[in-house]
Amino acid sequence: MINLGDNMLVNFNEMLGKAKEGHYAVPHFNINNLEWTKYILEKCQELDVPVILGVSEGAAKYMGGFDAITGMVKGLIKDLEITIPVCLHVDHGQSFETCKKAIDAGFTSVMIDASKLELEENIKVTKEVVDYAHQFGVSVEAEVGHIGGTEDNITAEETNATLAECVALVNGTGIDAIAPALGSVHGFYKGEPNLDFERMALINQTLSIPLVLHGGSGIPDDKIQKAIECGTSKINVNTELQDAWTHALRQFLKEDEKAYDPRKVIGSGEKALKDKVEEKVRLFRTQK
Ligand code: 13P
Repeated sequence: MINLGDNMLVNFNEMLGKAKEGHYAVPHFNINNLEWTKYILEKCQELDVPVILGVSEGAAKYMGGFDAITGMVKGLIKDLEITIPVCLHVDHGQSFETCKKAIDAGFTSVMIDASKLELEENIKVTKEVVDYAHQFGVSVEAEVGHIGGTEDNITAEETNATLAECVALVNGTGIDAIAPALGSVHGFYKGEPNLDFERMALINQTLSIPLVLHGGSGIPDDKIQKAIECGTSKINVNTELQDAWTHALRQFLKEDEKAYDPRKVIGSGEKALKDKVEEKVRLFRTQK
């Protein structure tokens, strides 16, 4: 597939459908700036695997807005001659308005996270997003239960989703993928992650759509494999990329106290970030 013109970006339906069928997962990597986006695209192109670029509301604001991000991603795809499937996705959109803004700017996928609301309200808001998004072929992910931890300065207490809540959310909205909170948390884990694999498998057997695992950083490899066996097709990773990149950058600045060229400073994290991307792609057994 050659991605040129306006169809450079895809929604996640085909890539996640194949992943569910083939028992592997597609990585969702959060992006924060041009360099990260470039490194992730280059590494995934080299490995010849599809990728989902996740943009939180905070990251969108940081980078200037959804239009700036679509322009940047499409420009990189063209200039770097990226031919793998790339999905540009809003991570934890907090409202219909945010999702609409991203869709209008050319995002091909959104997550509406109305999980802090009562189930009925969550269904109502999510359905509104689905009705808008599907007119443009944009895929929609939604969350039920609460994924714990802190991301983008938003902290949540974790509450696991029930099968009944998942069924109600899917049937009431027509979403394309579901993120049921089952014990994973954003940020660093305190102690060993405790995921409810039994319920994950049950939800997967009951629903036909792909499952998403948030809080993918810091989960031991065997538990990631188990989550994939239990039907997880999309795994979100942010914290481990941040940690790897910052570590390398800190080391670089320590070793070269006179460094001032931003390209050298920011670029000093390139290898660490690319290595981490490769590690996750191999762990998730991602294919095209
Ligand atoms: P981590 O903080 O574990 O990397 O999770 C990222 C995530 O789930 C983004 O939605």
